[in-house]
This record gives sequence, C-alpha cells and structure tokens, in this order.
Amino acid sequence: MNYKLVTTNERPDLIERGDEIVIEVWPEFMLNDAVANKWFFQLYEKFPEYQYWLLDGKEIVGIGNSIPLFWNEKLENLPEEGWNWAIVKGFKDKEKNIKPNLLCALSITINPKYQGKGISTEMIRSMVQIGKKHNLESLIIPVRPTLKKDYPLTDIEQYITWNREDGQLFDPWLRVHEKLGGEIIKVCSKAMNISGTISEWENWTGMKFFESRKYCIPGALKPVAFDIKKDVGIYIEPNVWVKHKIP
Ligand SMILES: CC(C)(COP(=O)(O)OP(=O)(O)OC[C@H]1O[C@@H](n2cnc3c(N)ncnc32)[C@H](O)[C@@H]1OP(=O)(O)O)[C@@H](O)C(=O)NCCC(=O)NCCS
Repeated sequence: MNYKLVTTNERPDLIERGDEIVIEVWPEFMLNDAVANKWFFQLYEKFPEYQYWLLDGKEIVGIGNSIPLFWNEKLENLPEEGWNWAIVKGFKDKEKNIKPNLLCALSITINPKYQGKGISTEMIRSMVQIGKKHNLESLIIPVRPTLKKDYPLTDIEQYITWNREDGQLFDPWLRVHEKLGGEIIKVCSKAMNISGTISEWENWTGMKFFESRKYCIPGALKPVAFDIKKDVGIYIEPNVWVKHKIP
C-alpha cells in the first residue's frame, strides 16, 4: 500500500476534512462524551505530532489520534475509565512537564470508501512508528470492539473470549490488534460516559423513549439507561485495554 503518513504539524489544513469523515462514520451519540468534547480538539493544537492521517493523493484514507502519557504501574492496573482517563492524563502530564513513557491511542477511523482493505493495520503500524519516533515504550489502546454492538446484552468480558473456528478472535477490530501482536490486558468498563436529555437521545438515535428503563440503541455496545422523570439517558461504554510493543 502506498499511502502517505502526515501529522498535524505538516498538514493542519486536513483537520476539517478528517472531522467530516469522523462525523460520517461514528454513531452520533458517540460524539457527545463530555470529556471528549472538552479535550479532543485541543489535541490538534497541543499534541500535533501525535495526530495523523494516511493519504491517498489528496484524499484522507484514515484518521489517527493519540496522546503520550506517563504510567509506571503495571498495565493490569490501568484505570477502568479507559479513554476518559487517558486523554485527561495526557493533558495533565504535559501541563506538569511530566515526561511520558507510553503512547495511548484515542481513535482510528477509516474513510468508508477505503474500509475493508486492511488499512486499519497500516493505521496501527503508523501509530507504533510515531511512538517509536518519540522514544515511547509501548502503545496502549482502549479498544472499542466493533461488532460488540450486535451483542449488547452479552457481558464484554465474555464477548472478548469468543473465537472463530480458526482460533482467532471473533471481533474483527480486536482481531486486527491480535494479528499485529497486540495483547489484551483487561476490560475497561467505564471507558466513556455519554449523558444526554431524552430529546437529545431522540435526536441522536431517531428512536423514542417512552418509559424509564434500559434500551438497546443501534451502535451502542451495551444498553443505555433512561430515566424519564429526571430527563436523562446515560450510556457507559466498555472498552478493552490492549498493549502493543514499540520495537
Ligand atoms: C473498525 C475499522 C477501523 C476497521 O478498519 P478497516 O480498514 O475497514 O478494516 P480491515 O480492512 O483492516 O479489516 C479488518 C478485519 O475486519 C473485518 N471487517 C472489516 N469490516 C467489517 C465489517 N463491517 N463487519 C465485519 N467484519 C469486518 C475484515 O474482514 C478483517 O477481518 P480478517 O481478520 O478476517 O481479515 C473501520 O471499520 C472504522 O473506521 N470503523 C469506524 C470507527 C471505529 O469503529 N474505529 C475503531 C474504534 S477506535
């Protein structure tokens, strides 16, 4: 594959087009995590060398976001708050001038026109390359298993043990990591926290929520809890911490 890797340092003009692709690909409710809304766009300004795109000529093939952070405990102790923890930790470490030792992936999105062509593997390799360039020890990722959305009632701990007949992991996105030598560390059960009013959830999903209870929402990895009286729906997204070596 002959795609060019560029970072925000080199091509800040790509931020807008990359964001259009992200909006096209992700379920709308996933773009409403309060922590993400506070910090995500600052990544391009504060950590431009860790935000990148793969390009096919002028077109964006994939968008990758990551943040360096410091963690000197065992990876088994990584926080349950996964994604939400990592982005805040990265910014706070930078503020305090703490030298990072790990790179944490925050998002990988493939342009729909280029999905299913193995580009996700190139995106992870590119992230490892960026980590290596900055002398970081390992890449950690709160992985969002993509097909978990089809099994919202199954516990994620159980789901990640599912294998295909050939012995490889059932989940395609976890499988990409597995094939590249990624090691599953553990589930992070509260990786993101998306809260909205009933009408916000109705706008995000196109569904109606008449009663207070849990609902399965298209694209959500587990049910979302609604309280009509309190006018709130809360989705706590579980992910899986995965580690890749940086050679
Ligand atoms: C998940 C994603 C990154 C995968 O990228 P991709 O480049 O399209 O995937 P690949 O072509 O590398 O395929 C990887 C595996 O997934 C399988 N796959 C791809 N699309 C699939 C789909 N829609 N359903 C089921 N399996 C699928 C491929 O067959 C391949 O399986 P294999 O191991 O048997 O060969 C991409 O679909 C995407 O951007 N999704 C939306 C954002 C997202 O969920 N990002 C991940 C969380 S950060």
